[in-house]
Amino acid sequence: MTSPADTSSDSNMSDADTTAVSVVLQGFGGADALSVERTPIPQPRDDEVLVRVRAASVNPVDYKIAQGEFPPVGEDDLPKIMGRDLAGTVEAVGTRAHYMVRHGDRVMAHIGFDRGAQSEYVVAKATEFVGLPEGVSFVDAAGAGLAAMTAWQGLFDHGGLDAGQTVLIHGGAGGVGHLAVQLAKWKGATVIATASSGDLDFVRSLGADTVVDYKADRFEDVANDVDVVFDLIGGETGERSLAVLREGGILVSTLQPPADDAKQGRNVRIAPRYMAEPNAAQLGQIADLMAAGTVKVTVAETFPIVRAADAYRDQESGHPRGKIVLTLD
Ligand SMILES: NC(=O)c1ccc[n+]([C@@H]2O[C@H](COP(=O)([O-])OP(=O)(O)OC[C@H]3O[C@@H](n4cnc5c(N)ncnc54)[C@H](OP(=O)(O)O)[C@@H]3O)[C@@H](O)[C@H]2O)c1
Repeated sequence: MTSPADTSSDSNMSDADTTAVSVVLQGFGGADALSVERTPIPQPRDDEVLVRVRAASVNPVDYKIAQGEFPPVGEDDLPKIMGRDLAGTVEAVGTRAHYMVRHGDRVMAHIGFDRGAQSEYVVAKATEFVGLPEGVSFVDAAGAGLAAMTAWQGLFDHGGLDAGQTVLIHGGAGGVGHLAVQLAKWKGATVIATASSGDLDFVRSLGADTVVDYKADRFEDVANDVDVVFDLIGGETGERSLAVLREGGILVSTLQPPADDAKQGRNVRIAPRYMAEPNAAQLGQIADLMAAGTVKVTVAETFPIVRAADAYRDQESGHPRGKIVLTLD
């Protein structure tokens, strides 16, 4: 097995052998500031693997980074290869990764901010990737990465959601929300979800027990004594949600949570803002649930990587049903 980086000294190697097509942000400025260009193929070390990427998803954080609206990524981090999740085949392994995977194995990964997933070749650490079960497509697997980790960690690690409890999920039709609905049902919870009118049947089909058209109706009229609110919208939606929590219930937000005074003296909890972290053990459970058909990823649209800017614009429109995924040949 050779790493493209191992062979870079060969004078016969063409640029295409040592570089990868990547989505690169050179400076802040939204989708228009993205370029699709060739970048050096990285080399896997120790327990890392080099993945030949077949699909990588677009998440809202990508367009926020591109706009310069995600403070953990600043000017000093540019140029930056974009993207957080991918699926593909193992191309090369680090010196201590041989026992885990072999050349050609199918894998999926949710990687850290220090690298980018929207590239032909990406290094993933042992803590970030898992084998991809037969029957799960690269596109679905790439779509699941960050979104599924966000849903899992928000519902279970931060929200402590358990069987028999009730969860209110705001944004149930989006990338994170549509997976959160399915994971909460798998856990044995009762699910109330908000969505817009065109997505109500979709969210019902995911297993939600009650679906609220957030533009036409007030969720406060159908939800009360809720154990966990999983807020993917923020702002006024999060603040209003505190009123539907039971005594001791908890609100978990993927965005800025409400300030403490929004509790208005009620005995409810607001989890600190969290960022989904790569976690191979959890990703493995997601992969198994996908293979079993328990969790289904809905992909709103796929774009070839050369049309990354269009994919970002689509994601930024804020209305995708499920995930937007980039494909690579
Ligand atoms: N902290 C983290 O680690 C983390 C990780 C992932 C995502 N996030 C953040 O979490 C948010 C959700 O992510 P996502 O990937 O699920 O986004 P998404 O795919 O854009 O989904 C958002 C969904 O919410 C719906 N929506 C908009 N306004 C709503 C409202 N007031 N009430 C209910 N639904 C509403 C949208 O559809 P309509 O507009 O058509 O109704 C869409 O279906 C994003 O802001 C993202 O940046 C944070």
